[in-house]
Amino acid sequence: MVGLLFCLALLPILAGCGDPDAEVVNVYSHRHYDTDEALFQQFTAESGIAVRVVSASADELIARLEREGEASPADLLITVDAGRLHRAKERGLLQAVRSETLAEAVPAHLRDPDDHWFGLTTRARILAYARDRVDPGELSSYEALTDPAWEDRILVRSSENIYNISMMASIVAAHGAEAAEEWARGMVANFARPPQGNDTDQIRDVAAGVGDVAIVNTYYVGRLLNHEDPESRELGRAVGIFFPNQDDRGTHVNVSGAGVTAHAPNVENAVRLLEFLVGVEAQTAFAEANFEYPVREGVEWASTLLEWGEYRPDPLPLSRLGELNNEAVQIFDRAGWR
Ligand SMILES: [Fe+2]
Repeated sequence: MVGLLFCLALLPILAGCGDPDAEVVNVYSHRHYDTDEALFQQFTAESGIAVRVVSASADELIARLEREGEASPADLLITVDAGRLHRAKERGLLQAVRSETLAEAVPAHLRDPDDHWFGLTTRARILAYARDRVDPGELSSYEALTDPAWEDRILVRSSENIYNISMMASIVAAHGAEAAEEWARGMVANFARPPQGNDTDQIRDVAAGVGDVAIVNTYYVGRLLNHEDPESRELGRAVGIFFPNQDDRGTHVNVSGAGVTAHAPNVENAVRLLEFLVGVEAQTAFAEANFEYPVREGVEWASTLLEWGEYRPDPLPLSRLGELNNEAVQIFDRAGWR
């Protein structure tokens, strides 16, 4: 047990942890929350399987898996966005796993139809509006943001970002490529400034009066509202949350998710960890760490999300977002959304 704790304390060092025959699972994760470490320790206590974590950005982890190939020590890839998970699958970096537990816990539209990846949490891409300048009654859908009333008022990050590529893919899925391109042109015409920064920067620019409505993922607002720094909390309070498309297909959602790697040395252990992460208790902690929604039904939400209330998510199978990824990128290019 001492050796095991030592092992966990030395995260994310991969090699050389004690008994070579001890059960382990090697995780490549974009996440770096203390609560994740506590969860992994709980998993180890229950299963006897040590969890070794390598943390890096999502794109770095995928590049590393490609570079390492068959020699990769990774068993489980934890990353964000169905578009990115789909890319990992297409590049042959993941493998199919059959698990009744996963199939029951994760709704079908939030996992790969071929079982290469499974959503662990969901996030909605919502409208964060200036409380002092926008009446939420003026807002309705992503589509309605192209109305001339919003000229010079819309804030959003670059089209190179996977969140926007997946959002565009959802528009293509709903309306077809031609209408999606028209929508993109209408959006560009209403931008308050050329796309720049991340989702937090969009919220900052709403608060600063650069624009009035930003398109951001829910957890960016959740993080600000719960930040230790009072200025960040004030930033979070400057914006209101609006879930678009509640009267039709629902708000575009995406996942953080995980898949067992193609050359995993410890497949069974990786599946056990995945199954643990979709359990009731783990789901609450895993989602709450980043103010996301659990994928599992009937699991408690973080209090900030409860305050925002229930909403209707777009039920589109998220694997479609990956399939439409290339088309979405081309539409952004043609429409001049840089
Ligand atoms: Fe993010």
